[in-house]
Amino acid sequence: MPTLSVFGAQWGDEGKGKIIDRMARDADVVVRYQGGANAGHTVVVGGDEYILHHIPSGILHPGKLNVIAGGVAVDPAKLLDEIEQLRARDVAVTEQTLRVSARAHVIFEHHRRLDHMAEKFKGEGRIGTTGRGIGPCYADKASRTGLRVADLLDGSTLESRLQATLAEKNVHFERVHGEEPLDLGQEIERARQWASDLAPFVCDTGALVRKAYREGRTVLFEAAQGVMLDVDHGTYPFVTSSHTGPDGIAAGVGFPVRSIERAVGIAKAYCTRVGEGPFPTEDEGPDGERLREVGCEFGSTTGRSRRCGWFDAVAMRYALEISGADAWIMTKLDVLTGLSEVKVAVGYVVGGVTRDSFPAELADLSRVEVTYESRPGWTEDITGVRRFEDLPEAAREYVRWLEDMVGAPVEMLSVGPERDQVVPVPSV
Ligand code: IMP
Repeated sequence: MPTLSVFGAQWGDEGKGKIIDRMARDADVVVRYQGGANAGHTVVVGGDEYILHHIPSGILHPGKLNVIAGGVAVDPAKLLDEIEQLRARDVAVTEQTLRVSARAHVIFEHHRRLDHMAEKFKGEGRIGTTGRGIGPCYADKASRTGLRVADLLDGSTLESRLQATLAEKNVHFERVHGEEPLDLGQEIERARQWASDLAPFVCDTGALVRKAYREGRTVLFEAAQGVMLDVDHGTYPFVTSSHTGPDGIAAGVGFPVRSIERAVGIAKAYCTRVGEGPFPTEDEGPDGERLREVGCEFGSTTGRSRRCGWFDAVAMRYALEISGADAWIMTKLDVLTGLSEVKVAVGYVVGGVTRDSFPAELADLSRVEVTYESRPGWTEDITGVRRFEDLPEAAREYVRWLEDMVGAPVEMLSVGPERDQVVPVPSV
């Protein structure tokens, strides 16, 4: 399969890191096309844990080309730190294994500050962002006031554009928030250092990826967040600021939409969400608490405790449908072991009316009455299972039931954090 899109089909944190790392074995090029250091993809190799924020999960396979495309909001300080930390663990991060787009927008200190200030200002209405400056950076991109990696590398553009930007942002800091202004000289100096450290990695990554595709190399497109956090299709405004599904690839990479040949969603066997916003199947009782404890549901970027709940077939159908998914991969099935029954949201009722699609209106989402169905659980430890037929019958039935409910086949299960803890699922 020359091109494959792998995306999150829930609210992020679906376990994409592990799956993409696994799929990267068969890819030549792995491309991150959206998001930034708000993501935290965890990959466990031989008991060692790696958390990747910007860099595609292909980096842990020697010889693969990893691309940070133009749709990513690059935080140079965090990216350089990530490179250093990987190198300290003997991961080869070189100009041969990592390329960064000249078109990617850059996150500066003023973006991070604005992110924090906006959240504080919103009070109860806050989004619960990761505080990484993502929203303000994409806002500047859309306002045409942002600086791109290419601008960072061009000394005179950097100076004049940063000066113009800070002149405006500093007024905002001082007059709206009563905060100290940022020092232009210091910001320029920091940006120059980033430019010189990043320069060896920078190129026109769109051209690079298109060429690789023309030459018949396998390209894997990696999403940073999940479809339910998509700026257009997610639970707006409780979303991130980019296009998180396969639709983000064309613009985020500069790659023809019709050349994306296959799309595979990743979803947990249950649901989690971090930050504020609608979450119809959230369970704030002992079952939710149990999922959090057993599933270690704490953010890999912010350490925040994740909200937990049951698998939502309504939201999942929506996410897979808008993404044109060919199949999906179910992660963390092992976390459900030990539950006497497993519940799934099979329908939404709003104001007495059954809804067959995911509501756009926040007001509707806040008063959704979820219709649940449940099935018996299983008690057997499944972390060592590698063949579908070796799973307990109740676990197999749960998988087949969810396939039916969402209308797309599951092609693989993940039953633990290690690379080899996967179970291929035969098609029916
Ligand atoms: P932002 O992307 O930092 O602006 O955060 C916007 C919303 O998206 C918040 O609810 C975050 O918790 C959520 N979010 C952003 N990135 C991730 C992620 O990688 N996993 C899960 N949630 C995320």
